[in-house]
Amino acid sequence: MSNLTIKQIDWQFDNPEFYFNPANREFSAFMNSIGFMAVGLERYFCKAMKDAEKLITDPRVLEECRMFNRQEMVHSKAHHKHCKALIARYPGLQEALDRCIEMYDEHYETHDLKHHLSYMGGLESAFTPLFGTIIDQRDLLFGGDPQVSSLFLWHFCEEIEHRSSAITVYNHVYGDHIYRMRNVKPMIAHGHEITLMLQDVFRKAVPEFDTEEFFKTWAKPLPKWTLRKMGWKIAASQLPFYPHDTQRLPAYFAEWNKRYDAGEDMRAAYAGPVLAAA
Ligand SMILES: [Fe+2]
Ligand SMILES: [Fe+2]
Repeated sequence: MSNLTIKQIDWQFDNPEFYFNPANREFSAFMNSIGFMAVGLERYFCKAMKDAEKLITDPRVLEECRMFNRQEMVHSKAHHKHCKALIARYPGLQEALDRCIEMYDEHYETHDLKHHLSYMGGLESAFTPLFGTIIDQRDLLFGGDPQVSSLFLWHFCEEIEHRSSAITVYNHVYGDHIYRMRNVKPMIAHGHEITLMLQDVFRKAVPEFDTEEFFKTWAKPLPKWTLRKMGWKIAASQLPFYPHDTQRLPAYFAEWNKRYDAGEDMRAAYAGPVLAAA
């Protein structure tokens, strides 16, 4: 039985700024790019997982696939709400949302299911080392608007919660490790193409935009050793038989779930480094 849980949170955004953490503009831009991408990407994942359902013969894998889809749908809706709030302030950002959805829809139409499930398996595997590092280092990266910081930290915790779902589905349906590893390069290239599109739209739509190549500089507050370790772990996460289930998880992951289970309003759970340390 799947241990994934569906948490419906009514996210609220009060006229959010593009640079929601003014102390860390590159990271803010990087998070916004993830937010716009998430709407199209998670819709793409859900379509592929729906197609995969008819090929799944193990009821446990089928349940995991369905629960994964429900979580991703909730994430997509939450980010859509944040994107719309940004668009209300910067109308030109509508193009970022439309293009992300179009580019992932086009990718879905022009590739087969093996490609889609391999894309998902690879990308979702990289999320635990990437988002786990961001969660661990949250006080160096997040801050500013607590509503926006809390949205991303919630999403990253859930990505860690369902870290092995997509790779489990790929391994069950196709299990072709060589194909998946060959697909890593095209997957990165596709993500990069979307990021460059977003950078162009941000430049046109956000008058204060001044963080060119934010996707290369977002991690500059992090210690060098932490970055190196994250890079190794991301590379290792693409290897066959990587132990996704037994990865060390950020302590905040357990803390987030404990606070949520205790009934805390998690919409502004992360108050920033100063208050969090107080
Ligand atoms: Fe997600
Ligand atoms: Fe995910």
